[in-house]
Amino acid sequence: MKKDLLSFTDWSAKDLNALLQLAITIKNNPADYRHALAGKSIVALFEKPSLRTRVSFDIGINKLGGHLVYLDSQSNKLAGREDTKDMGNNLACWADAIVARVFAHSTLEELASAAKVPVINALCDMYHPCQAMADYLTLTERFGDLSKVKLAYIGDGNNVTHSLMIVGVTLGCEVVVITPAGYEVDPAIVKLTEQKAEQNGGKLIISNDVEAANGAHALYTDTWLSMGDDTPLETIKQAFGKYKIDEAMMQSTGAQYVMHCQPAHRDLEISGTLIDSEQSILMQQAENRMHAQNAILVHLLGGAV
Ligand code: CP
Ligand code: NVA
Repeated sequence: MKKDLLSFTDWSAKDLNALLQLAITIKNNPADYRHALAGKSIVALFEKPSLRTRVSFDIGINKLGGHLVYLDSQSNKLAGREDTKDMGNNLACWADAIVARVFAHSTLEELASAAKVPVINALCDMYHPCQAMADYLTLTERFGDLSKVKLAYIGDGNNVTHSLMIVGVTLGCEVVVITPAGYEVDPAIVKLTEQKAEQNGGKLIISNDVEAANGAHALYTDTWLSMGDDTPLETIKQAFGKYKIDEAMMQSTGAQYVMHCQPAHRDLEISGTLIDSEQSILMQQAENRMHAQNAILVHLLGGAV
């Protein structure tokens, strides 16, 4: 049966750890994997803009010996010209996998059920699994044992947060999520994450108070306005003002590193000087997008190494 990667919600700790190890192996031994996707073609469908995801998939697939076809659907939602399921069926006639960035998670589910080839979530309204994998690869490189790591996410409860929560507690991390009131994460994801934390030894703390980040090893933030959110910036600034990550917050919490999935808005959710500081591991996260995704591709598409 073909496998998809839509969310990581159904992955065990053993499988996630194996994927993390595969990412490390591929990163450290690129020559061993240069034919891993030989003869394979992957279609990328993007309903929303992207820098990191688009380029890291394209170059990463190239490094594995495969080929990417990019379909820009930004001005035309996937279902605009024909039904999503017909599109998925057609693409599977030629492609070995589909990478898709969409508005609604249900679009991914539709594509995955129609297409006979693996579908990979490149971001949707609910999840950003490729980002989370790259982020925990980055934290593993910095700290080694993730079960000793406390990661505090501060900002808008969104797709990036959901994936950080799910993947983090499955890998044994303590994940603290701090949002302003009214901008919390999805309660169903909280419930699921709590179950996973209990099964795997991780921990989840949800708060509206930035002091809950005290003692964190790393602070993480994302844009206060996700793609497609047209809340006026002034409203957002009023709600999020005290949740900005800056040097003072790094000092008061005692955090060693700052993280951001990017695109970052300098001096809005994070101070510009902090992005450029020694404490910033944003570029390591960005670099690791490619290695994490290559591990996902090798895992889903197999192929002779
Ligand atoms: N972090 C991330 O997914 O970046 P892009 O939106 O540029 O792909
Ligand atoms: N939460 C952001 C992530 C961008 C990579 C968004 O969905 O726009």
